[in-house]
Amino acid sequence: MAAGTADFVVIANRLPVDRVTAPDGETLWRKSPGGLVTALEPVMRSNGGAWIGWHGASDEKLKPFDHDGLQLVPVHLTEQEVAEYYEGFSNATLWPLYHDVVVAPEFHREWWDSYVKVNRRFAEKAAKVARKNAVVWVQDYQLQLVPRMLRELRPDLRIGFFLHIPFPPTELFQQLPWRKEILEGLLGADLVGFQMPGAAQNFVRLVRQRVGHKTHRDLVYLPDGRTVMARAYPISIDAAGFEELARTPHVLARAAEIRESLGNPTTVILGIDRLDYTKGLRQRLRAFGELIAEGSLHVDDAVFVQVATPSRERVQQYKILRDDINRLVGRINGDVGRIGHQPIQYLHASYPREEMAALYRAADVMVVTPLRDGMNLVAKEYVACRYDNRGSLVLSEFAGAASELKSAYQVNPHDINGLKASLLEAVQSGPRTSAKRMKAMRKQVMENDIERWAGNFLRELNEGPGAHAMTLRPSAP
Ligand code: F6P
Repeated sequence: MAAGTADFVVIANRLPVDRVTAPDGETLWRKSPGGLVTALEPVMRSNGGAWIGWHGASDEKLKPFDHDGLQLVPVHLTEQEVAEYYEGFSNATLWPLYHDVVVAPEFHREWWDSYVKVNRRFAEKAAKVARKNAVVWVQDYQLQLVPRMLRELRPDLRIGFFLHIPFPPTELFQQLPWRKEILEGLLGADLVGFQMPGAAQNFVRLVRQRVGHKTHRDLVYLPDGRTVMARAYPISIDAAGFEELARTPHVLARAAEIRESLGNPTTVILGIDRLDYTKGLRQRLRAFGELIAEGSLHVDDAVFVQVATPSRERVQQYKILRDDINRLVGRINGDVGRIGHQPIQYLHASYPREEMAALYRAADVMVVTPLRDGMNLVAKEYVACRYDNRGSLVLSEFAGAASELKSAYQVNPHDINGLKASLLEAVQSGPRTSAKRMKAMRKQVMENDIERWAGNFLRELNEGPGAHAMTLRPSAP
């Protein structure tokens, strides 16, 4: 297949831009707030980089276009593929399976067929766009077959893969009727990256058991002579960018305004999550409701602000969750609220980065209680915004971030009494204790930002076993 023009290609389910309509009715693309594009932008610019991804609408074919100096290559999905590849196999099969089967994964053969077909479309696009010997970085669970498909089309490429979500324990992964195909798909990469060392070990063990390849520590030896490396690269955020934003007068003023409109309570507790059943929203709301009901926290003093960003709204389990949370918030506010004092302020909406930073600045306690989470970047964002060394973080031990943020109040979200005790301890902690904890967490987050994460991955991809040459040009100063 003829080679294209990009020396560095990123493949992700979504493009790093959102379509917005300007007040004059014109349609514009705006860079999405995610840290990944921020980290990769410099490398992309120095290497004529291209980003391949879905633009978010169905039944619409768009031509490649440039945005802010980045080459964007849209992949189209039909309405049926959105239902089967995206909502179905990616988000109703793989998502729950990889998150400890928190809800039951559904296995449908038509969904799998669609996943194969769409993965092939992404691989074919990349094969056209990548220049000879280019570096290609495939992102996340929606595209696990792409590495192998791409290698078959373009054996000259250096291919990396990173899984942003957890990789399940071997016993759970075995449920997948297409387990061997997924493992073989990933083995098309030279380097397979995971959030946690345990995930990389699960993958290598499964490859040995299910595919029968020889393995040694983090290496897999393939019969064709290739060696694949599987390692952990805990992802992070644009920490300096968040801190800078949190220091702006506009954000500080907004933080004060938020507290004011909440009635200037003694304690503001905050949760910010995609509305997802893996996030442990029920558990944290119940814990807070019980603390108010039994008088450990007082309704005049404490407010819980929960932002739940709408997500995957046509998937059945997400609809069920939305109704459940609406009911739970209504019940708690009805039971323990008073006129002018609703203890839970529930916002089903998505907000720009500035508003999130203001909320982080306004919160005394941040509560992050997923039942399982690959990393959880909200926890790191909160820490990055607390340059004043104030504020406490309550963090689930089942979030990847727990292995780095050891000074958080770590909780098992299934244990409601334990969660209540930790929440109360965080609320009541004195300024010296919380400053000590926050300083330790800030050191970790500010030193290990997303730029370092991307740099580590790309360096090891370039230098790992079987590398043909250092092909990526370093980003321009
Ligand atoms: O990290 C998990 C992930 O699925 C990403 O791949 C994605 O960018 C994000 O969550 C949001 O999900 P979605 O693209 O399904 O809205």
